[in-house]
Amino acid sequence: MRSQTCGQVNATHVGDTVQLCGWVNKRRDHGGVIFVDLRDRDGLVQVVFDPDTPDVFALAEQLRNEFVIRLSGRVRPRPEGTVNPELSSGEIEVLGLELEILNRSETPPFQLDDDDVGEEHRLRYRYIDLRRPDAAERLKLRHRTIREMRSVLDAADFIEIETPMLTRATPEGARDYLVPSRVHPGQFYALPQSPQLYKQLLMMGGMDRYYQVARCFRDEDLRADRQPEFTQLDIEMSFVEEEDVMSLMEAMIRQVFKTQLDVDLANPFPRMTYAESIERFGVDRPDLRVPMEMVTVSDLVADIDFKVFAGPAKDPAGRVAALRVPGGNALTRKEIDGYTDFVGRYGAKGLAYIKCNDIAAGVEGLQSPIVKFFSEEAIKGVLERTGAQDGDLIFFGADTASVVNDAIGALRVKVGHDMKLLEGDWCPVWVVEFPMFEHDAREDRWSAMHHPFTAPSVDAETLKSDPGAALSRAYDMVINGIEVGGGSIRIHRPDMQSAVLELLGIDSEEAEAKFGFLLKALQYGTPPHGGIAFGLDRLIMMMAGADSIRDVMAFPKTQNASCLLTDAPGDVDERQLRELSLRRRLPATEG
Ligand code: AMO
Ligand code: AMP
Repeated sequence: MRSQTCGQVNATHVGDTVQLCGWVNKRRDHGGVIFVDLRDRDGLVQVVFDPDTPDVFALAEQLRNEFVIRLSGRVRPRPEGTVNPELSSGEIEVLGLELEILNRSETPPFQLDDDDVGEEHRLRYRYIDLRRPDAAERLKLRHRTIREMRSVLDAADFIEIETPMLTRATPEGARDYLVPSRVHPGQFYALPQSPQLYKQLLMMGGMDRYYQVARCFRDEDLRADRQPEFTQLDIEMSFVEEEDVMSLMEAMIRQVFKTQLDVDLANPFPRMTYAESIERFGVDRPDLRVPMEMVTVSDLVADIDFKVFAGPAKDPAGRVAALRVPGGNALTRKEIDGYTDFVGRYGAKGLAYIKCNDIAAGVEGLQSPIVKFFSEEAIKGVLERTGAQDGDLIFFGADTASVVNDAIGALRVKVGHDMKLLEGDWCPVWVVEFPMFEHDAREDRWSAMHHPFTAPSVDAETLKSDPGAALSRAYDMVINGIEVGGGSIRIHRPDMQSAVLELLGIDSEEAEAKFGFLLKALQYGTPPHGGIAFGLDRLIMMMAGADSIRDVMAFPKTQNASCLLTDAPGDVDERQLRELSLRRRLPATEG
């Protein structure tokens, strides 16, 4: 139907006759001629209809936004002074000679170039929203990124293998989406939270190097970087150690950034232990663009006459941390109050600070609601350890270590952005040496920090004697504070797998019921293996400079997990329920 796309027409085609199809982006009438911006996925081109061809002109007068048309026309240079350098077709226009209206459109529910349209409205009419050039650009970036990854993996002898969607529960720790079985009344499939167990089984099956662009399903509370179904680039390799996986994976990400964004990422990526990351940044996904660090000052304030600080300072589970903000002296009372509210969301009960006006002048030169409680020695120690200069501000958090880490860790990133302190555009880092287990104090039980198939870096005896101290062979790739991927070397020996499950409080009966197939497979010759999974949506969101992973998904769901376009989830009729041996028991009809 067409000789090329709208976005492909440019100054090299002057004099050519072209056939184009697309949507009317805008129609303007101008002193007897009609201008139409014709749009398709690739771009815009300006078409002119003049009254010399009356039939065509009359038809052009009927055109409205979002009509779909086909035309034939001659490419000619734009008159001087009307060149648009922002368009690839900006030097030319097409003189319309023939015109056909392929389809009409109702008045669209919003203007494509209106930036103030609410997201709900956009999602309800997603097929119109997707016509916006930046929406198309993001999906194209997504496509090219995945294609680049496939080509790297193909060159490294990986094969792409699909794994089932209708399966058993997988162990990523979120709630499952269940699918009732008609054939097995009362029984359910679970949609995979990841292909974790299948990819390990593929290694046991001798597949050596596997990857999959895999859909994962997790019923969890949604945020800007979480969706109930999302896509992983899922990878597993046999006969490898950490180095093998990490070096290949960072080379792949470097190549993706180079080819897609013309960005040279660090080579090699820096590495940081989990413990160091928590100590310096409060989180295990540090944003290294922010040039501020937390420092522990517990020892300096343990004996001061201020319980709020002395208490956590003396408590082994507590922490008092300081965060020096360069130039932070300029923060107003109102801004500091705003930050106090901000840390409150993470459970912090306050946000003490010292403004350093004139350090040489001693206490007189400091402005703070808390220095009055400090000994001279404590003040000196804090100033030294934080490296404070005149003009800086020091924030303090005092509480359990976990509250302080969450609160001051998040504050660090927020203040860094607010004060435009970011250094460098792209800061990748591997976080390594994670603990094997997290202790849940409320339930007094251990849970796997990554997942229960991650290998510990110690033997089974040592693991059992001090589970809290054992480190795992897991690694996370973090870029600009976002965990883009995570993986580990796996357990490949049945005795170790049993030991880990036991420590997690999964007795052999439960283990048999849940993962019996994997435990059995471990007994038939399992190669050492390991892998990783990248959150593709998150990675591409970041590469596209988008605020939410919804922006890089064609048909995302809302915060409450519904699809506004199709109205999913939806009701089903009684007959379907009966077939599935299900009966409705809505909260409203209960008791
Ligand atoms: P993990 O659970 O860390 O590991 O997931 C891997 C990556 O997937 C992304 N991700 C998500 N993206 C969008 N929405 C979500 N709800 C969501 N949850 C996770 C993150 C994360 O880094 N099987 C293991 C991997 C392995 O061990 O090989 C796994 O799934 O970017
Ligand atoms: P108060 O004595 O409660 O008025 O607190 C004095 C200062 O300490 C105020 O600036 C509070 O914001 C701050 N503050 C109170 N609790 C904490 C805490 N847990 N961590 C850090 N600062 C705190």
